Amino acid sequence: MKILVIGGAGTIGKTIVDHFSKENQVFVAGRSSAEYPVDIADTKSIKALFKKIKKSGKIDAIICAAGEAKWARMKDLSEADYHIGLKSKLMGQVNLVRYAHKCLKRKGSVTLTTGILADDPVYTTTSAAMVNGGVHSFVQAAALEMRKEIRVNVVSSGVVMDAYAKYEKYFPGHPPIPMDKMLMGYRRSVDGRVTGEVIRIYS
Ligand SMILES: NC(=O)c1ccc[n+]([C@@H]2O[C@H](COP(=O)([O-])OP(=O)(O)OC[C@H]3O[C@@H](n4cnc5c(N)ncnc54)[C@H](OP(=O)(O)O)[C@@H]3O)[C@@H](O)[C@H]2O)c1
Repeated sequence: MKILVIGGAGTIGKTIVDHFSKENQVFVAGRSSAEYPVDIADTKSIKALFKKIKKSGKIDAIICAAGEAKWARMKDLSEADYHIGLKSKLMGQVNLVRYAHKCLKRKGSVTLTTGILADDPVYTTTSAAMVNGGVHSFVQAAALEMRKEIRVNVVSSGVVMDAYAKYEKYFPGHPPIPMDKMLMGYRRSVDGRVTGEVIRIYS
C-alpha cells in the first residue's frame, strides 16, 4: 500500500511510520517536513500536499497523527485560543476527509487522531476535549455519506507510553497506553474494513 502519515515525525506518528514502513510505501508529512510540508490548519496547504502526493499515483490510506489545541483554564482561554483547536485539530482533520478524494483511491481509508479527553477530560482541557468530541461526531456522520467512496475512522487513545513522562501530571490515575497497543487502533482502521468507528484505546 501507499500510505500518507501526517505528523509522522511526532511521538505517535513515529510508531505508526515505523510499523507501516515495513511492508508499505509511506510518505511522512508535517509542518517541518522538507519533502511533504503541510499545515493542516491551512486548507490551501492540505490541497497542495494532496496534489503533490497524487503525482506518483493515488494512495491507499491517509493517517493523521497531528493537530493542536490550547490547554489552559477556561477562565483564561480567549475565543482566539479556542480557534486554535477549531482550526487545527477539528477543521484540519475534517478538511483532510473533505479533500481526501484528491489523492486517495476509491475505498481507501482516512484515519484521524483524537484522544481520551473526548470522553474523560482532565483539568484545563475544555478546548482539547471539545474538538476531540467534534471529530468523533464528524467521523460517525461522514462515514454514512462516504461508504461507497472512502472509509473514515478515528483512533482515540489514552496517554501513550512514550509521552507519559510529559503528561503524567495532567492525567492522575490514567494508565499509560503501550505504543504497540495504541498502534492496534491504526492497524484496525487501515488494514481492516471498518468505517465510521471511534476506536477507543483507554486501558
Ligand atoms: N501523546 C499522547 O499521549 C496522545 C494521546 C492521545 C492522542 N494524542 C493526540 O495525537 C496527536 C499527536 O500527538 P503526539 O503526542 O504524537 O504529538 P507530537 O509528538 O507533538 O507530534 C505531532 C506531530 O504532528 C505535526 N504537526 C503538529 N501540528 C501540525 C499541523 N498543524 N499540521 C501538520 N502537522 C502538524 C508535528 O510536526 P511539525 O511540528 O513539524 O508540524 C509532529 O510531527 C495530537 O493531536 C495529540 O493530541 C496524543
